[in-house]
This record gives sequence, C-alpha cells and structure tokens, in this order.
Amino acid sequence: AFEVQLARSGRTCTVPAGRSALQVLLEQGVDIPFSCESGVCGTCITRVLDGEPAHRDSFFTDAERAANDQFTPCCSRSRTARLVLDL
Ligand code: FES
Repeated sequence: AFEVQLARSGRTCTVPAGRSALQVLLEQGVDIPFSCESGVCGTCITRVLDGEPAHRDSFFTDAERAANDQFTPCCSRSRTARLVLDL
C-alpha cells in the first residue's frame, strides 16, 4: 500500500494492494479523466509533485518515466510511501 496526498486540499488517501490509485481517487470524488485503465492511452496522466512513482504504463518514454513528475494512476504505483499529486 502507499498513500496519495492531494496537494490542493491536503487530503490523503491510502491505495491498498489490489486497487489502483485511480479507483481510490474516483471513489473519493476526485475527477480524473480516464479511458483504458491499463497504462496505454495516457488519458489519466497526473502530475506528481513529490515522491517517486513505480511506473507500470506503456505510454511514457523512458525519459519521461525517469523524470518522475507525472504518472498514470490507473496502473502505476509508488516506490515511496507517499506520492504528492497536483490534484
Ligand atoms: Fe489509459 Fe490511464 S486510463 S493510461
């Protein structure tokens, strides 16, 4: 599990194993556009302000992945205990 913190509200949610950050955020009423839910389309891309995503998409280039300033919440997770998102 890891936590996602929403920078604009300061709210924090836990993303348990077996659930995606996208599912958790939608459930919390956060409006994130999405489509494929499998890391292919890039629709759900969300800016990451702090923390290091564990990228599991096939959308970003290696350079984009290495920058760690955005991730796909439909399938990617976190290497750090917390990700701070620009939401
Ligand atoms: Fe398609 Fe996340 S919904 S990459």
